[in-house]
Amino acid sequence: MSGIAHTRWGTHGTPEIRNAHPHFSNGPGSNSLQTGNIAVVHNGIIENHAELRKYLRLNGYHFASETDSEVIAHLVDFSLKTDLLEAVQLACSHLKGAYALAIMCKHDPHRIVAARQGSPLVLGIGKNNKEIYLASDPVALTQVTNTIVYLEDGDFVDIKLGQYQIFNARGEAVERALQTVETLSRQVELGDYQHHMHKEIFEQPEAIKNTLGNIDNISPELFNSKWSRAVPGQARDIFSNIDSVLILACGTSYYSGCAAKFWLEGIAKLPTQVEVASEYRYRPSLPNPRTLVVVVSQSGETADTLAALRHAKQLGMTHSLGICNVASSSLVRECELSYITQAGIEVGVASTKAFTTQLSGLYLLAVVLAHARGNMTETQRVERRLELLSLPLALRQVLSLEPQIKQWAADLANKQNAIFLGRGAHFPIAQEGALKLKEISYIHADAYPAGELKHGPLALVTSDMPVIAIVPNDGLQEKMKSNLQEVRARGGQLYLLADADTQLDEDDSAKVIRLPRHSGYLSPLLHAIPLQLLAYHTACLKGTDVDKPRNLAKSVTVE
Ligand code: M6R
Repeated sequence: MSGIAHTRWGTHGTPEIRNAHPHFSNGPGSNSLQTGNIAVVHNGIIENHAELRKYLRLNGYHFASETDSEVIAHLVDFSLKTDLLEAVQLACSHLKGAYALAIMCKHDPHRIVAARQGSPLVLGIGKNNKEIYLASDPVALTQVTNTIVYLEDGDFVDIKLGQYQIFNARGEAVERALQTVETLSRQVELGDYQHHMHKEIFEQPEAIKNTLGNIDNISPELFNSKWSRAVPGQARDIFSNIDSVLILACGTSYYSGCAAKFWLEGIAKLPTQVEVASEYRYRPSLPNPRTLVVVVSQSGETADTLAALRHAKQLGMTHSLGICNVASSSLVRECELSYITQAGIEVGVASTKAFTTQLSGLYLLAVVLAHARGNMTETQRVERRLELLSLPLALRQVLSLEPQIKQWAADLANKQNAIFLGRGAHFPIAQEGALKLKEISYIHADAYPAGELKHGPLALVTSDMPVIAIVPNDGLQEKMKSNLQEVRARGGQLYLLADADTQLDEDDSAKVIRLPRHSGYLSPLLHAIPLQLLAYHTACLKGTDVDKPRNLAKSVTVE
């Protein structure tokens, strides 16, 4: 038996049945969906769909949806002479954009033709090698197989009667390696947890321990993983020859880059710029070939991040490092150097363990760069290593604060808005806290560098506005306390995440949670945890779909 389906709404059109996949061809002489000859599911985006739509209309095709994907069904139907594979190959030659496609023809019901260009697509080989599956991500196949074939851009697959044949972009039959993904099913089991996000928050000590692995020898080669394109030994040369860093990423991964800027400039003394990938690629910029381009991504398939990386390369910045949780991803394949975080599969759409493992990798990068460039003594290197090694225990201690955080969540669940404040490297953590809260609880939240309050956002502060502030015992503590006074004076409700030794003013109205003692540099990473738990428990109280928040997808493979 063969079938195709898609679990996401289209990028084009409102979420309603007529815009849902599969899309059917509806060719000349027919105007009923049921009579569709070709059925298509598509992940990606077709950039020239308007042009194709016009052409197909002129040739008698009727459109039933507002989606870009529907043109593919009509185009394959239009291209079909005798063979479905040939028709799909011909149709794809007219498509501009990104796609992972699975296509069936009414008159050949035991056959599926698939194609990949710019969007992820894997084959899963099930029982007795006779069950063939297609999916965007191996995680979707955990219940049926852990034997995976990663398809490459330009590949087509012809699947019929329990057999498959892969063809490359030139139409030549090719073999792609079978890979066994060992622990997939165990990793996605919920166990005693109600939600993946909760489980993943609690997996962080282990995830960081696995990510750091053996750091007895903190050397550049740690960033030349076996999936890198660079030859062994090349990382040291690259790290010695760069004079700046450009970090490109989206969402949570972008915030990890923003926090890392403080480490790369503070510890490694390298000027660092962090840019939202979707903006960087469209603005005129001044390329510097001695820049190390660092792309950060959980999935390694985020379309904007990949496009930004390609743009930077086109501008002549050839030194690239991918910090990514998926070794087999497009991002890792396209980077010169790579560092694979070992967070394990992250199922919850809200990124948690991916974030803190990225931060650990980026901190390690700052230490390695500092040492490779002669900006760190051996004693300092030993100290930084010990800090990293102390992280899993420190994280466990922070996780034990959950009962206190639940009390804050009970207050927050009744609010419409929230403000997050931070300073320095803790400001990106405040931004990430606000993102987590809005993403899964749907409470509007914004983060500000605390010094900016009086330049506008203070107007929002009333007795009904919760203000969640990160107040570590760092050089900015006194400045932060003045900012908190501004909130107090307007009657705002203060929730303070403080260090064990932060000196706070006596004030009964503020609610305070103190983090266990920890090393200063890694403080941003530890402060991220209570904010993840706060968002999680608030969302649970509001009864939202924590692991699959509305309108969002885990991996954003379209622009
Ligand atoms: O897979 P990536 O890290 O590249 O994804 C980037 C963002 O889409 C992602 O971090 C998103 O912001 C998070 N899911 C939010 O929790």
